[in-house]
Amino acid sequence: MNKTAVIYESKYGFTKRYAEWIAEALSCPAFERKKFCPKDFPQYDTVIYGGGLYAGSVSGIRLITENWRLLSDKKIVLFTCGLANPEDPYNISNIRETLSKILSDDMMKQICLFHLQGGIDYSRLNLIHKTMMSILRKMLLKKDEHSLRKEDRLILETYGQNLDFTNKESIRPLVEYVL
Ligand SMILES: Cc1cc2nc3c(=O)[nH]c(=O)nc-3n(C[C@H](O)[C@H](O)[C@H](O)COP(=O)(O)O)c2cc1C
Repeated sequence: MNKTAVIYESKYGFTKRYAEWIAEALSCPAFERKKFCPKDFPQYDTVIYGGGLYAGSVSGIRLITENWRLLSDKKIVLFTCGLANPEDPYNISNIRETLSKILSDDMMKQICLFHLQGGIDYSRLNLIHKTMMSILRKMLLKKDEHSLRKEDRLILETYGQNLDFTNKESIRPLVEYVL
């Protein structure tokens, strides 16, 4: 029987929620990255890794890149969870461009990518993240109003609030790919 594991790294719980929905839909376990031991990879035929997007990069993605020799014969799925709307092709191409710098050509060919939308709760951000978001806001405020993208406006208009775009339905294409 095909054995699947969902592994995730989540700073504020958005990726965790998706990982748990996916694991439930596939009747498989979900592990936090820090609690997953790479020596257990050989037990699985399919590995699904999910991480929050932070300044374009995927939280904890080194688990995949550093253990590629244990993964190269498996079905690998990577899902990202970010604030940017994944229905906008511009956002997807940005994420994929950054990923292509982190993942080798072989990894890019073998890994199937999915992009899910999380949220942000400013009141829960740690100091580094709060500072990063405040710097981003200041940079955006200096920009010409007409050059702002939808995502930039969202950050300016909702700065400081609690946003949650998680949507259980959006895991469906990933689940169907794995099944
Ligand atoms: C400092 C910082 C940087 C972020 N960078 C990005 C980004 O580059 N792209 C994006 O779509 N979302 C970005 N986000 C939003 C997070 O990806 C979003 O909050 C996500 O839901 C976090 O998931 P997690 O709670 O599972 O870690 C950023 C958030 C913070 C606080």
